[in-house]
Amino acid sequence: MQFVKLAKVSDFAGARFKAYTLMGRRVAIFKEPDGTFYASEVSCKHQNADLLTGRIDGDIVICPRHQWKYNLRTGECLTHNSARLRRHALKVEGEDIFVSLTPSED
Ligand code: FES
Repeated sequence: MQFVKLAKVSDFAGARFKAYTLMGRRVAIFKEPDGTFYASEVSCKHQNADLLTGRIDGDIVICPRHQWKYNLRTGECLTHNSARLRRHALKVEGEDIFVSLTPSED
């Protein structure tokens, strides 16, 4: 699996998430309250709305357009179980955050 350095841990001081473009797709890195990180695509599987402009409550986001609900951490769509956000593997090495170039297959 090929990783690319996308961010630094210090980028998330006071920020819950940050968005990036990776291989032409919008991907966000999220910081959990316990200090762990995960990465997920953030385009709605319905009509590609930007989920980061929706309402986020914990790991759950509600799409601003037609209110599909997702668990950002697991990728699960709570509205239509055939839709799923692709997640990216993520690793932290010291101060650097690396994300897999291609999404995970789960
Ligand atoms: S674009 Fe997200 S629910 Fe329609």
